[in-house]
Amino acid sequence: MLKYGMVGGGKGAFIGEVHRKAMALDHRTELVAGCFSRDAGTNAESGAELGVSPDRVYADYNEMARAEGMREDGIDFVSIVTSNYCHADACRAFLNNGINVVCEKPLALTLPDAEELTALAEGKGLLFMLTYTFAGYPMLRHAKKVVERGDLGNIFMVMGEFPQDYLCGDFDDSSLGKFPWRSEPRFSGRTNSLGDIGSHIQFTTQYLTGLEIDSVCAKLDNIGPFGKLDTNSSVMVRFTNGATGMFWSSQVALGNDNNFALRIYGEKGSIEWCNEAAEEFNLSLLGHPTMRIRKGHSYLGEDKFHNVTARLPFGHTEGLYAAFANLYLDYCEALENKLQGKPYEINFPTARDGLHGVRYIERCLESNESGQAWVKF
Ligand SMILES: NC(=O)c1ccc[n+]([C@@H]2O[C@H](COP(=O)([O-])OP(=O)(O)OC[C@H]3O[C@@H](n4cnc5c(N)ncnc54)[C@H](O)[C@@H]3O)[C@@H](O)[C@H]2O)c1
Repeated sequence: MLKYGMVGGGKGAFIGEVHRKAMALDHRTELVAGCFSRDAGTNAESGAELGVSPDRVYADYNEMARAEGMREDGIDFVSIVTSNYCHADACRAFLNNGINVVCEKPLALTLPDAEELTALAEGKGLLFMLTYTFAGYPMLRHAKKVVERGDLGNIFMVMGEFPQDYLCGDFDDSSLGKFPWRSEPRFSGRTNSLGDIGSHIQFTTQYLTGLEIDSVCAKLDNIGPFGKLDTNSSVMVRFTNGATGMFWSSQVALGNDNNFALRIYGEKGSIEWCNEAAEEFNLSLLGHPTMRIRKGHSYLGEDKFHNVTARLPFGHTEGLYAAFANLYLDYCEALENKLQGKPYEINFPTARDGLHGVRYIERCLESNESGQAWVKF
């Protein structure tokens, strides 16, 4: 069993609980330490509920990193699931104490911090996973193989959209209390919709296609009564192979829950995938009727990623928990092998992917601030 600690994810928090439940699917990890909240009472209560010994529930993550780094039986890795503002600082603390890191996106709020952390993780040879969730979806893993096999030919166009509507309309105090940090620059950084969900479009496109961004042209809008940051963002992307991307993310697109969709067009074929029907995608190949490719079928062949991570037979949906579990499964396998001195594979997003994500956000902000100039990546 790998021993892990968690920073953030206290009672009432969203994604920390998802990480813990996802890890529990595979019984490879044990939670033994944490700094679950800045609030002392919530921190202690969360630790007690999660069965963590009180002497390993820490008041702050710097103290946790030092203490766990010095213990003989210290944690093998930490999972950082706080709001954005302290990802970089917490990552730095654990890396400097020789502890492997899993961190939520974004890696950092500034490019220099992201560069420093990537160099630190790589220089120390520690295993770092950035949890870009969509790399854990079995059908996106299979779609990546289809693209890599060349079935679509040269890709010339990627359309990505991530509309939500939870920031539409008027808010009373209780709804403002529900998502306070995302619209507050001190906690969220300089962007909301672009960084929070637009970053998923950027990562997932690059994960699926391998295309590299050459330059971006971005327009950020702050629509609705909700806070100081963008709630709607549109980005045009030029890729180095000459392909174009059009990425739209919004939290004020009425009628949408979590409607992330990608359409990838090549000279010989196209793929169309949508998060709300995540266990299938449409594949259109020149001269053939459109095919609906679905999870769990033998026609997917010996695709290791798909077969290992499609945990249920076809027709049984798995979703977000399983996607996180798949990421952790690959991370834990690599870490177990590494700790035993065996060869290991990195089949998960890393600090370097996080660095690309932060660079994307920075370049889009630069473009927006300069009145939609094209900005080199
Ligand atoms: N990968 C995904 O699909 C996905 C989905 C949702 C959220 N996220 C990311 O997860 C992170 C958390 O989002 P959330 O929605 O769970 O937020 P949240 O507000 O529900 O939870 C944040 C938690 O961090 C704790 N925290 C904040 N500062 C802390 C500190 N200094 N020390 C200890 N604990 C601290 C808070 O008390 C809270 O428990 C964000 O960075 C967000 O971008 C990613």
